[in-house]
Amino acid sequence: MTSPLAAPLTLPCGAVLPNRIAKAAMTEALGDLRDDATPALERLYRRWSDGGAGLLISGHVMVDRRFLEQAGNVVLDHETDETKLRAWVAAGTHGGNHLWAQLNHPGRQTTRFHSDRPVAPSAVALPVRGFFARPRALEESEIGELIAAFARSAGIARRAGFTGVQVHAAHGYLISQFLSPRSNRRSDAWGGSLERRARFLLEVVRAVRAAVGPGYPVAVKLNSSDFQRGGFEHDDAVEVARMLAAEGIGLLEISGGTYERVAFAGQRRVAFVGQGADAGLGGRASVAEPRAAATRAREAYFLEYAHAIRAATPGVPLMVSGGFRTPAFMAEVLGAGEADVLGIARPFCVEPGFPARLLAGSTEPLPSPEERIRIGRGWAGPHSPSADLRAYNAQAATAWFYRQIERLGAGEEPERRPGTGVPVLLRYLWREWRRARQRRASRAARRVA
Ligand SMILES: Cc1cc2nc3c(=O)[nH]c(=O)nc-3n(C[C@H](O)[C@H](O)[C@H](O)COP(=O)(O)O)c2cc1C
Repeated sequence: MTSPLAAPLTLPCGAVLPNRIAKAAMTEALGDLRDDATPALERLYRRWSDGGAGLLISGHVMVDRRFLEQAGNVVLDHETDETKLRAWVAAGTHGGNHLWAQLNHPGRQTTRFHSDRPVAPSAVALPVRGFFARPRALEESEIGELIAAFARSAGIARRAGFTGVQVHAAHGYLISQFLSPRSNRRSDAWGGSLERRARFLLEVVRAVRAAVGPGYPVAVKLNSSDFQRGGFEHDDAVEVARMLAAEGIGLLEISGGTYERVAFAGQRRVAFVGQGADAGLGGRASVAEPRAAATRAREAYFLEYAHAIRAATPGVPLMVSGGFRTPAFMAEVLGAGEADVLGIARPFCVEPGFPARLLAGSTEPLPSPEERIRIGRGWAGPHSPSADLRAYNAQAATAWFYRQIERLGAGEEPERRPGTGVPVLLRYLWREWRRARQRRASRAARRVA
């Protein structure tokens, strides 16, 4: 019997995903100083494309070059070098898979390396020390410009050959900031009730749809919850999913958490810079739990939340991301109809060809080196009583994954053994600081010229 992982999926717009394995978005940080695609991105995506996944979703592609999530983000606007972009897309679709661009604006989740004055729905600072400046509230006219920026980027993505786009409405970035009453304190037509907080997302989706036309996949990544009291809660997520279903989106991806409350890597904790949030250990189930329950708790952190969203959005293909590592469990989730597509991220950094072996029936679990990357042990380790130390451990693990992405982009093999946390973390911070500085200098030089 063929694995449910190998079954093609026809999306409502008519596009067909060749199988159910998707690479969830991961920032590559491999763009050049002009925020364009590079040969490193081509090498990376050719490797992933040849690995057999039915769908690759790019890391953040930014819609506004004034605000990056990280140095090396690719930006899609009128300055974009579309020849370089097309070369990246050609490499990333080499294996016959789909490649979608994840469109994003960081809002207040941009570090001081990139902006001392970020923008956000309201002037509410991230309660994370040091790295993030207090944002200013967007003017209404700017909100309209940002909606247009998402649409413009989507049009460029389509022209370059991306086979779909995904609007990033999760993980605490700008759209997710609009959704949450903690970060959206507006009293105009963009804040207040859930309908008003969801308006920015819905208008972005409509504008993107108008820019790419019918028959083209427009997906959305949404938090199942921000996991914060008084924030975007699970019931809100179900309602917003219902609103998105009414817009006729092509696929809904479910994740969770923000930089303040990091849930998307299996832990809920505070991060301090970049995607530090994404690292860390998988959620550990108690040994007393029955195996099936333990596997569920450890893998697929958001599956239970996805059930209610699924029920509220009949006919919308559902992708659930975060934690999948065991082929038998993945087949069970698909077989039971709990999800249509499985979003997997970190294993792609260490075993880029794993989809092919899973589709061929391998039962070997996917690699989980995140469990072994730490900056210390005991009180200094990933389970430290200090939230800051937990965040440093998480950031170190994510930094290690960035390093593997960089190696794949350079045509090298990933490291076999996870590195020690402190040097990995320091190298990452130094690289990010240096590249942000070089980028600023390059932009300033272009402005003068
Ligand atoms: C290095 C790294 C970069 C990431 N960048 C993004 C991103 O650009 N956009 C996004 O939506 N999620 C991003 N994520 C989160 C992943 O898409 C995914 O939700 C998370 O890693 C959990 O899946 P996994 O357990 O299979 O790794 C990133 C994760 C990692 C490890």
